[in-house]
Amino acid sequence: MAEPVLKDLTVVVLAAGGGTRMRSKTPKVLHEIGGRSLVGHVLAAVAETSPRSVVAVVGHQRELVAPHVSALLPDCLLAVQEEQKGTGHAVRVAVEAAGTTSGTVLVAYGDTPLLTGQSLRDFVAEHEAAQRAVSLLSGDVAEPAGYGRVVRDADGEVLAIVEHKDATAEQLEITEINSGIMAFEAGFLLDALPRLGNDNAKGEYYLTDLVGLAREAGLMVGAHVLADVVQTEGANDRAQLAALGRLLNDRVVDHWMREGVTVVDPATTWIDVHVDLGRDVTILPGTQLLGATTIGEDAVVGPDTTLKDCEVGAGARVVRTHAELAVVGDDAQVGPFSYLRPGTRLGAGGKIGGFVETKNAVIGDGAKVPHLSYVGDAEIGEGANIGAGTIVANYDGVAKHRTVVGRHARTGSNNTFVAPVVIGDGASTGGGTVVRGEVPAGALAVSAGPMRVIEGWAQERRAGTAQAEAAEAAGRETAGGPEVTDDSSQASAGELG
Ligand code: UD1
Ligand code: CA
Repeated sequence: MAEPVLKDLTVVVLAAGGGTRMRSKTPKVLHEIGGRSLVGHVLAAVAETSPRSVVAVVGHQRELVAPHVSALLPDCLLAVQEEQKGTGHAVRVAVEAAGTTSGTVLVAYGDTPLLTGQSLRDFVAEHEAAQRAVSLLSGDVAEPAGYGRVVRDADGEVLAIVEHKDATAEQLEITEINSGIMAFEAGFLLDALPRLGNDNAKGEYYLTDLVGLAREAGLMVGAHVLADVVQTEGANDRAQLAALGRLLNDRVVDHWMREGVTVVDPATTWIDVHVDLGRDVTILPGTQLLGATTIGEDAVVGPDTTLKDCEVGAGARVVRTHAELAVVGDDAQVGPFSYLRPGTRLGAGGKIGGFVETKNAVIGDGAKVPHLSYVGDAEIGEGANIGAGTIVANYDGVAKHRTVVGRHARTGSNNTFVAPVVIGDGASTGGGTVVRGEVPAGALAVSAGPMRVIEGWAQERRAGTAQAEAAEAAGRETAGGPEVTDDSSQASAGELG
């Protein structure tokens, strides 16, 4: 079936409220779930209706809300509601700002992140097809407290919406509630808005009173009952924010499983809305894929891994890793217990192993930093191998310096590269080397001094300890006792240790 084309649609997004129950310095509609703000979710759904214009009504903390909305949807008009005098007043401010004269006006709230574009399209299409003056999206809920109730006559026709605070005891029993999402024929809306009064429990201009006004004028009014009521739920406090976040995540994880991704434990897997996953990706438990992360085909990620704004290549394996703004090449291996900081780029088939931290490090194809290392501000050539326990000392306390390791170089264990360092192609370093300056291509650099042996040192200098006893016992088993072979017996434990 072809999608309905909504040619002359103005969408009003109400986002002027304070959101006091969030108890936050951040405006409610800017709180995030799934890596996108609440109002960002709403604007994304609204965009799917292909509206002629979108107007956001801003008020509370508009110095934060307005720029955010403009960044997400540059064409969005902004209407300022200085004082919150009610939803009817807010819509009036909006249609005036938009200069709407015809077509349909759809009203949505800025804090309902689960609302889909499909639901909005279906709602508006039904409103237009039925040629109604007013349509409302309603839902049947177990706990209707706080909501406006949909009052119907014996034939089931919608008569009015009565706000909770204005409802009679009998009306409070009604479980069909107004979601707040409403559609209007523009001509009726422009004519009726100025006629709204505020003689009610809250002293506000209620948008919902337009239902009764339309009925009095003999115009068509109807409600569309949305089965999936969570779509219209707003996040008023942090508990609701988390609950909606969980539901959104279920939806996103479900989507990727249908696209051919194996998710071993959906309950502990979190995937932001902008993430992109290839076919036959496997995600193991406890994994968070955040921001604009992309994962290539056949890659296996997790368990217990967080990737934010990362690009992981096809066939790669990322185990127990925390990474941000990092690129992992095809068939590369990362982890377990690796920390990839911004600017890390691991080439195809490369490896960043256990207890390795990297930052601003380009590690070439097939190159490996397998164990216990820190690599920062460095470029490691293709096929090179960095020894276990290597520390790149990139920062001298004032400035950062670069380290360049050539192709197929092999550096020893427990090295310190005191940057700036250049190690040439095919060069080597010995175990324990402190590398400064340049090692030419093909050369071997060694800086650790020759080992000295001071016989019987423990028995002499640590007499009476378990260490000395063990040494003595070993000495009795072999020949001879404690014996000092040169006068360097004065060496301190520090030097030896
Ligand atoms: C409103 C509806 C109610 C519905 C409920 C659904 C009215 C009169 N009532 O009630 O029928 O069941 O939503 O959640 O419309 N806002 C503005 N400017 C204002 C007033 C409100 O921008 O002057 C915004 C708020 O930020 C909020 C939304 O409009 O996003 C709803 O306002 P709120 O005061 O929370 O209405 P409710 O009393 O919940
Ligand atoms: Ca509300």
